[in-house]
Amino acid sequence: MTIRRVLDGVEAYLRHEMDDGRVLADVSPAVVRALAAPLPPRREKRKPAPVPVLTPTVDTVSPTVDPAVAGKDPVKVLADIAGRVAECRRCVLCKQRNRTVPGQGNPHPELMFVGEGPGADEDRQGLAFVGRAGQLLTRMITAMGFTRDEVFIGNVVKCRPPDNRTPLPDEMEACLPFLREQIAVLKPRVIVALGATAVLGLTQAKGICKLRGNWMLFDGIDLMPTFHPAYLLRNPPAKREAWEDLKAVLVRLGRPVPPVGSGKSGQSSSG
Ligand code: URA
Repeated sequence: MTIRRVLDGVEAYLRHEMDDGRVLADVSPAVVRALAAPLPPRREKRKPAPVPVLTPTVDTVSPTVDPAVAGKDPVKVLADIAGRVAECRRCVLCKQRNRTVPGQGNPHPELMFVGEGPGADEDRQGLAFVGRAGQLLTRMITAMGFTRDEVFIGNVVKCRPPDNRTPLPDEMEACLPFLREQIAVLKPRVIVALGATAVLGLTQAKGICKLRGNWMLFDGIDLMPTFHPAYLLRNPPAKREAWEDLKAVLVRLGRPVPPVGSGKSGQSSSG
């Protein structure tokens, strides 16, 4: 795992602990010793080894983050990512998919929503969140004062898991570089992580019920975990908490918070 990912995870965890009012961290004696020890001298930078030339096959389609993504035209980068997603054979999910679902929306979004992975409707249309959960997400977005076109909507995995099962860890690991690359080029001000899988994929933190409503960080970007719309369809009373989370997002963005009750379009789904 990269140091960047470990740092993000540790920072998110410690912030969460502090937000919960804790001041002491439970760390092992080895960590205490490592923190007390002086840092080792920096190694001299060696010349980078020559990059081996690989013969590309369909299995080597690489979703590796392009460090040069910054400054590039997001529309082109997003199209390039979508092209690589369409060719991807990195996990078994490619076997049963009809369409890949790279995600869609504003290439310069203030706000990005990240879900778990496509369902049957998304797999048919190649678009994220177009089924029943997507319709509720649309109402949530509208209640916040945005349109779907103003935000970007994506997923942790870009192919439908069979029978809508939760994506497996190796499937998430294989697909997450695409999402990281999308976030790097989109540079949203806030990411809303929809449900446990999105939070786990982006921050490695577990337990949406305790995490929701608490600010986290992904690569320096504010991240708000909240319930997945599909969960809200099954548990309508939880819409109240989800709406609190979305209001916190609006405050963070400096946008008007709709008066009490007008969030109902996000809360009154048929589910
Ligand atoms: N659920 C998700 O997590 N993503 C979608 O795109 C649709 C349903």
